Amino acid sequence: MQASDFRAWAHHAADWSADYLRDVASLPVRAQTKPGAIHARLPTSPPEDGEPMSEIFADLDRLILPGMTHWQHPRFFAYFPANASPPSVIAEYVTAAMAAQCMLWQTSPAATELEARMIDWLRQMIALPSSFTGVIQDSATTATFAAILTARERVLGFEGNTRGLAGHPPLRVYATAQTHSSIDKAVRMAGIGSDNLVKVPTQGPRNGMDAAGLAQAIAADRQAGLEPCAIVACLGGTSVGACDDIAAAAEVARTHGLYLHVDAAWAGSAMICPEIRDLMRGAENADSFVFNPHKWLFTNFDCTAHFVKDPKALTDTLGLKPAFLRTLGAVGEGTPGVTDYNEWSVPLGRRFRALKLWFVIRSYGVAELRRKIRQHIAWSQELHDKFAAEPDFEIVTPPILSLFTFRFAPPDRRAGPPEVLDQLNARLLKRINDDGRIYLTQTTHAGRFVIRFQAGQTETTRSDVMSVFDIVREVARGVELSKQDRGADDRPQ
Ligand SMILES: Cc1ncc(COP(=O)(O)O)c(C=O)c1O
Repeated sequence: MQASDFRAWAHHAADWSADYLRDVASLPVRAQTKPGAIHARLPTSPPEDGEPMSEIFADLDRLILPGMTHWQHPRFFAYFPANASPPSVIAEYVTAAMAAQCMLWQTSPAATELEARMIDWLRQMIALPSSFTGVIQDSATTATFAAILTARERVLGFEGNTRGLAGHPPLRVYATAQTHSSIDKAVRMAGIGSDNLVKVPTQGPRNGMDAAGLAQAIAADRQAGLEPCAIVACLGGTSVGACDDIAAAAEVARTHGLYLHVDAAWAGSAMICPEIRDLMRGAENADSFVFNPHKWLFTNFDCTAHFVKDPKALTDTLGLKPAFLRTLGAVGEGTPGVTDYNEWSVPLGRRFRALKLWFVIRSYGVAELRRKIRQHIAWSQELHDKFAAEPDFEIVTPPILSLFTFRFAPPDRRAGPPEVLDQLNARLLKRINDDGRIYLTQTTHAGRFVIRFQAGQTETTRSDVMSVFDIVREVARGVELSKQDRGADDRPQ
């Protein structure tokens, strides 16, 4: 591509993006496409000769856009948000243009030094003590994997990487069933084995870890000759927003000499609001803490803040320096201030993720970021209050930050078999999402099918949030239990 064409198409891409974000609210939130439909319309083999950008862009609109689920839609209330923002998108454009590999200090000193500064800004924003430093990872899954590997190595005297795990008593990791599946994945990948992930019982309105149960499980494991290794505490679980008492978990970790990792992937962003920081009380005593600015801090995926107390334990676990990655010359390896972040991460190659954080935090300012998150929380509470006052609905779990769960439970159906209400709610959710004005997803709580609501989109307004009440009620009125409906319930939610 000629430089002049690049300029023209880059301008076109900027116009396309601005139009997309201006108009996205008029599109159905969840893609309304059948499985395989898009695949079938794509050429089965690659073009031998280059095609004009005009045709590629036309196909973007014709083939791809209709098959997208619009995560930046103001009425996206599903899963957790993956919110982005104009300053973040602009930073992603320039990051893509520079396309730097930020694996070593010398492969882009500015990227490394900005990363160190951004991690410290984030640390201050959520009021973690200065005893934490950190790194930007691609995802919370990777950060948690790194934490579990570090915990494993710490308990094995940093010999697991060389000798393997054979001949050692099974290592044990403790978390509740409310923690994310990335913890299950981490113990698998770390060679600890999912049978050694102990699911500690939960208690209380926040579905938090039962600290006494945790201590008993650890003692019983020790007694049985097993090797307790790490505790993973959860701050804002994915299902219903469960929050463990981190201070209590930290006390158990201290007493038993275990590593404590906190997964605050979603809720961590809200900790920029001092009035809700009570939820993270005790995090100062953790060994590591992860949260995703790519969820709720207006920063494009991917961007995960991974804080650690002891960076040496992390680099002793993940760091390798083959000859081809050594920094030669006067400045580099071993020089104070020179960090090779690949030694803090599972992948070697690293995108320049700090730039979008820099653009976002500078462009909005922390006060505005707080204001937006507070609005999401307040509107979610207001919507919850409306459902709570509506006789045909029941609240299953109250709001934790901006997440609550509810279900359609007309009084005359409550006495029947619980499966009937499950089916009714599954059908209601399908109809809501086929309708396209809003997007909600489900979870299971205490064995029952429930509908989740969370607010966190950048352009969401109070009226978008309140529309959920009217739309859900309107669709619920038309939901009837019939065999025909049941047969049609095959579209993924
Ligand atoms: C609580 C929690 N932890 C971890 C993750 C995994 O996040 P990532 O996609 O960054 O790996 C999620 C994703 O939703 C989550 O909700």
